[in-house]
Amino acid sequence: MAEYFVWDKSKLTVSVDAMDREHQGLIAIMNKLHERHVSGAPISEVEAALNELGAATTAHFANEERHMESIGYPGLVSHRLIHQDLLKSFKQHATDFRAKRKLEDEFFRFLRNWLVAHIQGIDRKYGAHQKLNKSA
Ligand SMILES: [Fe+2]
Repeated sequence: MAEYFVWDKSKLTVSVDAMDREHQGLIAIMNKLHERHVSGAPISEVEAALNELGAATTAHFANEERHMESIGYPGLVSHRLIHQDLLKSFKQHATDFRAKRKLEDEFFRFLRNWLVAHIQGIDRKYGAHQKLNKSA
């Protein structure tokens, strides 16, 4: 089956290998979750993938914030707030899932929007900052 989420280097690289790898790891979990969702896997398996994604996302945001700090990225404070917002939305979706015992399409729209808007628009800025400072 074709992957639902694709890590396309030309669009999603942040030019920091460690962070690219983490983004790819998150996308792999998102695909696993989506696959279980559409194939009608047992609810416990959907929940396991959802929990895995939550834990990996929390760890990734912390790593990313540490990375931004290490390169003296000036946008760290607002980026951290965006992360907190995303985690809040994620937790709300997880709460809804536990109440309804199913994931809504809206949840996958949220993940897609996060990928496209956040990685492409927001995360790439610290990569650009790092590149600029290296060549300076
Ligand atoms: Fe980020």
